[in-house]
Amino acid sequence: MRFTKLTIGQLSLATGIHQQRALSEQLAQLWPRLDVLYVNAGDVTHRLLEEWDESSYDRLMNTNLKGPFFLIQSLLPMLSNPSSLIVCGSVSAHIGLPQSSAYAASKAAILSLARTLSGELKAKGIRVNGLNPGPTETPALSKLGNGASDQPLRDEIRALVPVGRLGSTLELAKAAVFLASDESAFMVGSELLMDGGVKNI
Ligand SMILES: NC(=O)c1ccc[n+]([C@@H]2O[C@H](COP(=O)([O-])OP(=O)(O)OC[C@H]3O[C@@H](n4cnc5c(N)ncnc54)[C@H](OP(=O)(O)O)[C@@H]3O)[C@@H](O)[C@H]2O)c1
Repeated sequence: MRFTKLTIGQLSLATGIHQQRALSEQLAQLWPRLDVLYVNAGDVTHRLLEEWDESSYDRLMNTNLKGPFFLIQSLLPMLSNPSSLIVCGSVSAHIGLPQSSAYAASKAAILSLARTLSGELKAKGIRVNGLNPGPTETPALSKLGNGASDQPLRDEIRALVPVGRLGSTLELAKAAVFLASDESAFMVGSELLMDGGVKNI
């Protein structure tokens, strides 16, 4: 299995249908068929409810839901039969972490999309599942909100994890490979939690 991460320069902030179509046309020149699509991009902004404004809310929802929705639509003709479509959710979709209102709602929505599409796309041989990370050591932890003042929230998130540490990107990558491969052939419209036990507290 060959994995390639693309950085699409000018298109990196694309969330609209026109940009998503341009991206799929660009991709189609490199690979006519896709065996695996992992929808990863995320805006992880965390804020108190009263601190949200409309443009920040729209940016988060565009990145976490609208962009993925139309990206999947645009790439659909390229997905092989069989293929695996994985959306990146979050354990936040299942817990009530303060300040995660918009983020958690966006992740709950994309996991719902995965469930629905798993039925809609099964005739095309496309398996759809969600991968739900818990707190993981990535640059996202410095992008939660307002920089230095985020430290209490970052500490709160670290303290949430029953196993006493953050997850690693390698652990998530292994879970993604599982979902991408035939090892998970019987998993359809489901979610894989890699959260160090957070959901169970
Ligand atoms: N880290 C965690 O604890 C954690 C927990 C649960 C779920 N997740 C999810 O895991 C996924 C990856 O996050 P991460 O932790 O690896 O965070 P990250 O390091 O901040 O990565 C987020 C990625 O999303 C890209 N991105 C953001 N907005 C975009 C847009 N509008 N268009 C295209 N790309 C965009 C970023 O690109 P640029 O670098 O170019 O901005 C970056 O590559 C996200 O969906 C996140 O919600 C993370």
